Amino acid sequence: MSTYDASFRVWRGDAEGGELRDFTVEVNDGEVVLDIVHRLQATQASDLAVRWNCKAGKCGSCSAEINGRPRLLCMTRMSTFDPSETITITPLRAFPVVRDLVTDVSFNYRKAREVPAFVPPEGVPAGAYRMQQIDVERSQEFRKCIECFLCQDTCHVVRDHEENKVAFAGPRFLMRVAELDMHPLDAAAEAGLDRKRTAQDEHGLGHCNITKCCTEVCPEGIKITDNALIPLKERAVDRKYDPLVWLGSRIRRR
Ligand code: SF4
Ligand code: F3S
Ligand code: FES
Repeated sequence: MSTYDASFRVWRGDAEGGELRDFTVEVNDGEVVLDIVHRLQATQASDLAVRWNCKAGKCGSCSAEINGRPRLLCMTRMSTFDPSETITITPLRAFPVVRDLVTDVSFNYRKAREVPAFVPPEGVPAGAYRMQQIDVERSQEFRKCIECFLCQDTCHVVRDHEENKVAFAGPRFLMRVAELDMHPLDAAAEAGLDRKRTAQDEHGLGHCNITKCCTEVCPEGIKITDNALIPLKERAVDRKYDPLVWLGSRIRRR
């Protein structure tokens, strides 16, 4: 088993401010960055705050930025980096810092609450829902989301623009709107809820200019842009230029 000492720069601080501190930590074969953070806690910085839970890439808790890229600490192998490289670990930039590597991600829970839930079809008892396999597979991809919020952190619409957070739900929640809008059993329209209109007017779909950075950082490999956001944009545009929808809105305006 090979062992070496690696150089790390870790952000220490709180909501008032902080700085990068230098550490040298032992690295062993097969380790991930979270192992190093734990060794750092055990040997040199017992009060270093980090959020984690499963250490298996499934709980979405250990999100942070490694050399400026949003990543899961538990799924980033140390073998990704050259042993001579200094590895910088910082908290998620788009969310307020609580302490050290822990950020306040409650923005995402507020956005989650703004998306109306699945509306069950009337007259179909639970257990009797039937869907085509192709529709099951389409939404299954979106259901793999572990809510790590790396996509929310990386999207340039909010990353450096705090002011956009009010109007923009972010890729994770626009994907949720897309999933529900594609759901063949969702009866939102019958209940008077137009998910395509709310995607534009309430969740800020128009802010997304399909840069695909969200897709690039998703640890579940969900094709957020190609399979959720672009189809949702197409459906919203279809609705806007549908002559019947246009006529209906003109009549309603009178
Ligand atoms: Fe994380 Fe991917 Fe879900 Fe975004 S879509 S929260 S990157 S798992
Ligand atoms: Fe942002 Fe993803 Fe769109 S990064 S701009 S939500 S494609
Ligand atoms: Fe659960 Fe990293 S600790 S995803």
